[in-house]
Amino acid sequence: MDFQLTEEQEMLRKMVRDFAENEVEPTAAERDEEERFDRAIFDQMAALGLTGIPWPEEYGGIGADYLSYCIAVEELSRVCASTGVTLSAHVSLASWPIYKYGNEAQKQHFLQRLATGEALGAYALSEPGAGSDVVSMKTTAKKDDGDYILNGSKVWITNGGVADIYIVFAKTDADQKHKGITAFIVEKGTEGFTIGKKEKKLGIRSSPTTELIFENCRIPAENVLGEEGEGFKIAMTTLDGGRNGIAAQALGIAQGALDAAAAYAKEREQFGKPIAANQGISFKLADMATEIEAARLLTYQAAWLESAGKPYGKASAMSKLFAGDAAMRITVEAVQIFGGYGYTKDYPVERYMRDAKITQIYEGTNEIQRLVIGRMVTK
Ligand code: CAA
Ligand code: FAD
Repeated sequence: MDFQLTEEQEMLRKMVRDFAENEVEPTAAERDEEERFDRAIFDQMAALGLTGIPWPEEYGGIGADYLSYCIAVEELSRVCASTGVTLSAHVSLASWPIYKYGNEAQKQHFLQRLATGEALGAYALSEPGAGSDVVSMKTTAKKDDGDYILNGSKVWITNGGVADIYIVFAKTDADQKHKGITAFIVEKGTEGFTIGKKEKKLGIRSSPTTELIFENCRIPAENVLGEEGEGFKIAMTTLDGGRNGIAAQALGIAQGALDAAAAYAKEREQFGKPIAANQGISFKLADMATEIEAARLLTYQAAWLESAGKPYGKASAMSKLFAGDAAMRITVEAVQIFGGYGYTKDYPVERYMRDAKITQIYEGTNEIQRLVIGRMVTK
């Protein structure tokens, strides 16, 4: 066993941390307040190669591993969880299924643009009546003259509206339940595809979340991803890795909260001494740091398993579950350590606390992670 990051992984962490602290953090609070997505930040990530970390150079990537990708999401989320999820949805949810299931033409045409950051990606699975229960989705794709006609709507789509390439799941055969779902690659601007309501949210407010509407939207057969009827498998295997990206996001949020709380506890004096000198505060910091290390080990292990070509679905569900719950506990404690100041927008910990909540909800709620893990444990 080797717990040492490679020189390349250490270099990547340093590069992303510098970028995050110098280019992302200064506007994080303002973008959160204004609910403003900034494409220029995504373009800067592209220039650094972050938009294609795990993909081979022949497809526009930098040919690094999944652990490097997790480190990047962690470092971005340490200062701005919205920027972390922009990258996570782009890489894990939009690019991964094309890399895994796309044919050569699709990789050249779509993955290449996603990897280089020329295009931004999104993943559209959830619907108003089908969140945890994916198979109950209502969006249909009917064959017509060799093409497919999409009708229906998707909700809660991260990068909605600002993305250029969408992975969209629809029913091609309602009688076949999970075997009747097909995945499509849909480009922004396709006739019949419009962006609906933009959500007003508690956290990750500079990551846009929107509805997608499909009204007689004609998609050519060449945009089918994988085989017809293979969509549920594509959706689930995509989430197997995606969930670890969210674990990395949660880990970054928690680390950001701990860093802020530890610095404040050393500086803030009450009763003539820094509040950190009270065991009641230092025990909180100790528990936060311990949970973060446990979350980091689970997250890095799941990434390592994926890079090594070993099964990683259970490890990824565990990392997302543990890191999400830990981030929520840790950010609440960070606000507590800041006292009244923590409850204001003068410090970033209230934003971290609001941002942490989503990591227990999306890419499968933490109840669903327990369901997935429980099924594997008892299989
Ligand atoms: N890999 C491969 N196959 C899988 C699989 C996986 N991970 N999970 C299930 N399957 C297979 C099963 O083996 C089964 O195969 P058979 O054909 O042999 O029957 C089939 O798929 C059906 O599986 P289930 O019976 O387990 O299906 P289910 O209806 O009970 O659903 C579920 C399972 C785990 C609850 C699933 O619906 C689920 O993951 N729900 C949560 C949805 C979710 O995570 N959404 C996230 C949206 S994206 C997002 O949120 C983005 C963002 O934040 C940025
Ligand atoms: P429901 O499924 O209605 O669940 C409600 C509650 O019931 C939850 O607590 C849940 O855990 C619980 N529950 C449901 N079933 C069970 C069960 N079997 N056992 C125990 N408890 C259960 N989706 C996308 O497709 N793409 C995206 O990019 C995307 N981004 C998102 C961004 C944001 C900000 C948000 C809020 C959501 C996003 N989602 C996205 C959707 C997200 O994945 C769903 O919200 C999530 O899967 C839960 O679905 P739901 O909201 O319909 O809740």
